Amino acid sequence: MITGSNRGIGLEFVRQYAASGWKVIATCRTPIGVGELATIAGDIEVHGLDVSDPYQINHLAKDLGDTPLDVLINSAGIFGPKGYTTADIDYQEWMKVIDINVFSPLKVSLAFADHVARSEHKKIITISSMMGSIGANTGGGDTIYRSSKSAVNSVMRGFAAEVKGRHIAVRVLHPGWVRTDMGGASADLSAEESVRGMRAVIDSLELSSSGTFYNYNGTELPW
Ligand SMILES: NC(=O)c1ccc[n+]([C@@H]2O[C@H](COP(=O)([O-])OP(=O)(O)OC[C@H]3O[C@@H](n4cnc5c(N)ncnc54)[C@H](OP(=O)(O)O)[C@@H]3O)[C@@H](O)[C@H]2O)c1
Repeated sequence: MITGSNRGIGLEFVRQYAASGWKVIATCRTPIGVGELATIAGDIEVHGLDVSDPYQINHLAKDLGDTPLDVLINSAGIFGPKGYTTADIDYQEWMKVIDINVFSPLKVSLAFADHVARSEHKKIITISSMMGSIGANTGGGDTIYRSSKSAVNSVMRGFAAEVKGRHIAVRVLHPGWVRTDMGGASADLSAEESVRGMRAVIDSLELSSSGTFYNYNGTELPW
């Protein structure tokens, strides 16, 4: 199951998992007229899910009933405002970014943990960013986005420890700088390359390596 699957990295996850024969539960906030998502061949079920709406999250969790979820991927995310300085930060906008990038992946992970726990693979993945690495932040800037990804890293690290007893493995991933609406046209990687790399990193995740932060190319990243 993938959130934010109508465009960008989420859409590419749908394409690649479906092409490999997986059953994919693709979620996006506007499931009607999903454009490119509707053109992908394979065993794909599309559901509406605005990840900022707890009612929709819990409703879908109920709707899925006993369906096992092998891999849950929290891909939905926003960058928030650009071009501000930390001195003139917009605290309202900051809250919105924290809501989508931090609260939502946790709410989704909690709501679907039972579905993941009853699956064979039992993995919960959150697409974070290298910009959330506190150790790597020597340049400053983009405080809103950076802090949201630092926070989700911290949340998922703790969540990994909490669900280990249920044999659920949790990992946060940096997808690289990817040519999507968020990454822009001059980014380094195609979504295809990024997701191909991340799928290998997801495959390699085991319970013993749960609670880790990885780059799309398989290297472990500093928190
Ligand atoms: N691209 C990069 O270079 C890059 C680098 C590091 C990390 N990331 C992370 O990778 C993830 C995917 O990014 P992307 O590049 O694919 O971005 P994108 O092209 O801007 O797509 C963002 C996706 O998130 C969805 N989304 C936003 N708010 C949502 C909500 N409330 N409910 C449901 N879906 C929502 C969007 O849906 P709508 O179409 O409905 O808005 C869209 O499907 C994000 O978490 C991002 O922070 C990206």
